[in-house]
Amino acid sequence: MRRKLHIRTYGCQMNVYDSDRMASLLAHHGYERTDRPEEADLIILNTCHIREKAAEKVYSELGRLQRLRERRRREEGREMLLAVAGCVAQAEGELVLERAPYVDIVVGPQAYHRLPELLASRERARGGVVDTDFPPESKFDELPKDVVAGGPSAFLTIQEGCDKFCTFCVVPYTRGAETSRPAADVLDEARRLIDSGAREIVLLGQNVNAWHGEGPDGREWNLARLIRALAELPGLERIRYTTSHPNDMDEELIRAHGEVELLMPWLHLPVQSGSDRVLAAMNRRYTADDYRRIVDRLREARPDIALSSDFIVGFPGESEEDHEATLRLVEEIGFAQAYSFKYSPRPGTPGSVMPRQVPEEVKDRRLSELQALLEEQQRRFNAATVGRVLPVLFERPGRHPGQLVGRTPYMQAVHVSDPEIRLGDLALVEIVAYHPHSLAGRTVAPHREWERAS
Ligand code: SAH
Ligand code: SF4
Ligand code: F3S
Repeated sequence: MRRKLHIRTYGCQMNVYDSDRMASLLAHHGYERTDRPEEADLIILNTCHIREKAAEKVYSELGRLQRLRERRRREEGREMLLAVAGCVAQAEGELVLERAPYVDIVVGPQAYHRLPELLASRERARGGVVDTDFPPESKFDELPKDVVAGGPSAFLTIQEGCDKFCTFCVVPYTRGAETSRPAADVLDEARRLIDSGAREIVLLGQNVNAWHGEGPDGREWNLARLIRALAELPGLERIRYTTSHPNDMDEELIRAHGEVELLMPWLHLPVQSGSDRVLAAMNRRYTADDYRRIVDRLREARPDIALSSDFIVGFPGESEEDHEATLRLVEEIGFAQAYSFKYSPRPGTPGSVMPRQVPEEVKDRRLSELQALLEEQQRRFNAATVGRVLPVLFERPGRHPGQLVGRTPYMQAVHVSDPEIRLGDLALVEIVAYHPHSLAGRTVAPHREWERAS
């Protein structure tokens, strides 16, 4: 009998990738994925530990699912298994079972290839089972290779873990040490994604630009070299990568932005703060001027590159002056898009025990000042694309009948209604209007005709 699997994903794109890999692994063991928790035989919460709010959400969700499970048991006599995967599982391990004793399986992000065995041992055990090992084998070697793209844009994890130990961050503890997948593996997975319909590949890693590995030519490759090899794969139209650390933006990668046509003129490069004092306390190991110089070099290589970033306000010891330095940096650089967060003290990180924690109301005010500025920049960036003709890759159906949503090279979502356009098409679109978070357009040349014409 086919059983049903429901996965709920929190956190970053790497969790989205992991959820897909768990689903394809379990498909080999009789599980079919469903959007509806009420019909599932197994529910996996793939969790995020980055901020307190994200982590706490897991427990309220678990409580809700436990009530659903009890109702189903009562009314239909059917069982359901509950699993917690991802970064909360890794960080809290046995503690998950203490807080939610009804959980069946707790599995960390580097051990989920063992899910089939965990399911089997759960049947034998009386309580929940926990696997938060950082196993010697790589999950990528153990997982089934039959990866398929879920749509025209596909994620591909090439690097995991982090050795940088920023003082606010849990990732080095939840994902473990920095590792890179071999180039041959990555190229192989990329070919499968393209064969199953991917037109864009987004390379993923906690520090994706730290990726390095032996290439098929026996030489040590860096991310720039890998991107050049991917750009040769027939059928691929776009390449992106995320998330990058400023210190790993090497010269070759910057040059690739100017030279590799498939590499999109868009970069998510978290800066976190514009104050050198705060950056040092965060252990980011660059200054605001270092960041400015990297951006200058990127813009020299690729003048139309658009930047996105992450910010934390209210890190311990952050003064009004530090906050203003961040606002100044934002004004100088001009971001097309950004994420900003209030500092959340995380257990086990150095930041959480630093003196001079910033009061909540100060964080609130600083966050709204920063967000007002970033939103205005995003609005201006979107407004400036009105009237331009941009290549758009259509990635998903829109909300209205006949409407599709695609993305410009700059990650902007564009809504287009055109019966000629299909998912996966790359078309030239004139941008006719902008909204705070998306654009509207009309096609000027359908799939690839513009390229043949030029
Ligand atoms: N590896 C990436 C970031 C990964 S975490 C980098 O080095 O930039 C994603 C974002 O979450 C971070 O960029 C940071 O802005 C935010 N973040 C991480 N820990 C946080 C914390 N304790 N409180 C608030 N925001 C945090
Ligand atoms: Fe976290 Fe810093 Fe590593 Fe990014 S570089 S994952 S912020 S420790
Ligand atoms: Fe969250 Fe883990 Fe990603 S903590 S942001 S899911 S690496």
